[in-house]
Amino acid sequence: MNSVLIVGSGGREHALLKAFLRSDRPLCMFAYPGNPGMERDGCMLADTPIGSWEELADWAVENRIDLTVIGPEAPLVDGIADLFNERGLTVFGPSREAAAIEGSKAFSKELMKKYGIPTADFSIFSQKSDAWEYIKKKGAPVVVKASGLAGGKGATVCDTLPEAENALSAIFDKNAFGEAGNTVIIEEKMSGEEISVFVVTDGRSYRILPVSQDHKAVGDGDTGPNTGGMGAYAPAPVATAELMQQVEREIIAPTLNAMETEGRRYRGLLYCGLMVTPQGPKVVEFNCRFGDPETQAVLPLVTGDWFELFRSAAAGKLSATQWKLYPGFGVAVVLASKGYPKGYEKGMVINGLDEAEHALGNLDIYHSGTAVDEQGRIVANGGRVLAVSAWAETLSDAIAYAYEGAAAISFDNMFFRRDIGAKGLARLNGRESSCRRTLKKQRAATPPNAK
Ligand code: AMP
Ligand code: GLY
Repeated sequence: MNSVLIVGSGGREHALLKAFLRSDRPLCMFAYPGNPGMERDGCMLADTPIGSWEELADWAVENRIDLTVIGPEAPLVDGIADLFNERGLTVFGPSREAAAIEGSKAFSKELMKKYGIPTADFSIFSQKSDAWEYIKKKGAPVVVKASGLAGGKGATVCDTLPEAENALSAIFDKNAFGEAGNTVIIEEKMSGEEISVFVVTDGRSYRILPVSQDHKAVGDGDTGPNTGGMGAYAPAPVATAELMQQVEREIIAPTLNAMETEGRRYRGLLYCGLMVTPQGPKVVEFNCRFGDPETQAVLPLVTGDWFELFRSAAAGKLSATQWKLYPGFGVAVVLASKGYPKGYEKGMVINGLDEAEHALGNLDIYHSGTAVDEQGRIVANGGRVLAVSAWAETLSDAIAYAYEGAAAISFDNMFFRRDIGAKGLARLNGRESSCRRTLKKQRAATPPNAK
């Protein structure tokens, strides 16, 4: 039996675990550091104190791990894939050089400019005064971004000049993003709907997963500050077959070619964050890993041999192994702790997990920020605590199921957005009719893609 190690501890990693468990291949699953939800699903957590990625690589060698999948961006940007490769381990995730596509927005913007990949116009600065002069000349609206990793909080869309001045001041005077803010990008503001396109690639061949849409703002109707993501659904109706052909032709294929030409062949998951503008799709950002919470909405829709797919991509020759798509929609609603994305409390006992997961079908609960307390209870331990992920033949049913799951769970200070998937419904514009009644009969007995 092959062994897989998943690195990371969030809902994205939990969704990856479940996807592996649903495949037909028997696998021995490990995680580092993992989370209580993953452990409950039978995943073994690396049981040794690990102080560095080198020690984790040693652990992976000793435990004969056949495939390592890296969830978060920081270790990839630090070079964890290179380290694992040097030890002869197979790792699904780009090298340090390739992960720069997320680690340095200055690099990725220059790459897009050099190779004619559509993105917002921009200039790059390392001095506040130069950036400010440029902004005054251009006028608002404008987008101010820290170049380095900033946990999804490095971009500020500024509709007025004072907002832009504040954003610059946060980066240069208040050092809000540390070294990540040594270089800033000033961008033209684009308008349109955003989509998240996940591309599994060996650097040349690629496969595209169902296209999803994130909900970044904390409040309903996209109000309030940006978060890591409050929910997602897939497939997003805005991503028509025609649009996706254009995305492949103008963005995915040229980006992979560009990376190889630059000596940074990309193997792993390339996340293309795109804006569907009136002029066509343009890149907002690239990420070097799966998105969270989009993964929680996308992966339940896909049944396949993930081991073979990721192993072959890592090895440089993407397998033709087929995956099966669930003919419907997935919706993931994030349950967060009041105060997120700023300060929030921890330690609140979570009720209703078993009821939600076992009494309702077509539903997974992924742990994002949870811990086990001294009495063995599962408690909130992060800003984003859980994601309730549901699937159904229609988007409206998937939304209803996800919210049914959310309603069964409670902890003090819990909140969630009530409009996840609403944009997709509006775009479908009544073209789908609910088949909820029939599905409801089926669901408790046989969730369509569960094993
Ligand atoms: P980023 O960190 O680059 O992904 O940006 C975070 C969020 O800011 C994106 O998901 C968009 O919602 C918004 N954003 C970033 N760049 C732009 C842009 N040029 N025009 C409009 N919105 C943007
Ligand atoms: N949900 C956005 C991200 O993963 O970057």
